[in-house]
Amino acid sequence: MIIYEVGPRDGLQNEPDTVATEAKAELVRRLAAAGLARIEITSFVSPKWIPQLADADALCALVARPPTATYSALVPNEAGYERFRAARLPVAAFFVSASETHNRKNVNRGIADHLERFRPLAERARADGVPLRAYVSTVCGCPYEGDVPVAAVVDVVRRLDALGADEISLGDTIGVGHPRQVRELVRAVAGAIALDRIALHMHDTWGRALANVQAGYDEGVRVFDASLGGLGGCPYAPGASGNVATEDVVDLFERAGVATGVDLDALVDTTAWLERDVLRRTLPGRVYRAKLGMRERRAEGQA
Ligand code: HMG
Ligand code: MG
Repeated sequence: MIIYEVGPRDGLQNEPDTVATEAKAELVRRLAAAGLARIEITSFVSPKWIPQLADADALCALVARPPTATYSALVPNEAGYERFRAARLPVAAFFVSASETHNRKNVNRGIADHLERFRPLAERARADGVPLRAYVSTVCGCPYEGDVPVAAVVDVVRRLDALGADEISLGDTIGVGHPRQVRELVRAVAGAIALDRIALHMHDTWGRALANVQAGYDEGVRVFDASLGGLGGCPYAPGASGNVATEDVVDLFERAGVATGVDLDALVDTTAWLERDVLRRTLPGRVYRAKLGMRERRAEGQA
């Protein structure tokens, strides 16, 4: 199984205080050193819409490219694709919602128009040999429209597939999904594209993200998006909280005997550094907090 780390992008995009570009580069470096092999490091979206990631170009100039990690970034349109190519990242990630209202709030146009923007971008990516990930947001519910029919998700997946997306990540943007729903969704989407092209992107608002990851795994999904410490959210989805915490996913799978390739202690060190030295606020990840507690008790025992 593969963990696709979205902390530097989905995690930081929601942070109100500007994080220094050097700190972002250090975060990416530490995540790669902890064994995360796929990391979404930033977004080439409009700096007016997501000011926190306005330094995407500068960040990419700063990060080293270790052979063990593949970096990607969000790319919403051709202007973003120009910046992405100049930054010399290997993988681009497009995004579109399954619900019309969230799509309009997030990218200022309807689903059909936005997908038309994906067409030239996908053609250029194919010509450039750039693999394309695509997110479908609001797959388990929309903050504006409520329930989202499975058929609407499958329809967007089919259109992304026809336009040339390689991997498609199903995003529970507002973290309302539950395991039975995730199973049904994965089965329905697997009727449209091969299972090994499906990823799951679970937010944890209702505390079910990890259960949803397990449900997806049981259905055969092998790529899971996660964010260190449970950071994350979408500024254009009111009420959305962080992604499933990477530490929780690593611990869940390692305990089941499924290798993740991630060094949990090195990851906890990274999250502790981010919490203490960069964000200066408490991060919610459960396994992260439990590991910190164990460390503190051990240190007290030795004192
Ligand atoms: P727009 O304002 O409609 O753009 O925004 P436009 O095409 O009309 O252009 C307006 C101006 O912006 C122009 O400049 C463009 O050059 C510039 P001007 O002529 O006025 O000087 N511009 C850009 N500049 C830099 N980079 C660009 C770019 N594009 C246009 N790429 C747009 C449309 C899509 C750009 C905007 O709505 C946007 O950036 N939205 C991004 C919102 C976002 O990042 N949301 C969070 C990420 S999605 C998410 O978190 C969900 C996910 O995690 C999965 C899940 O949880 O479900 C992925
Ligand atoms: Mg997200």
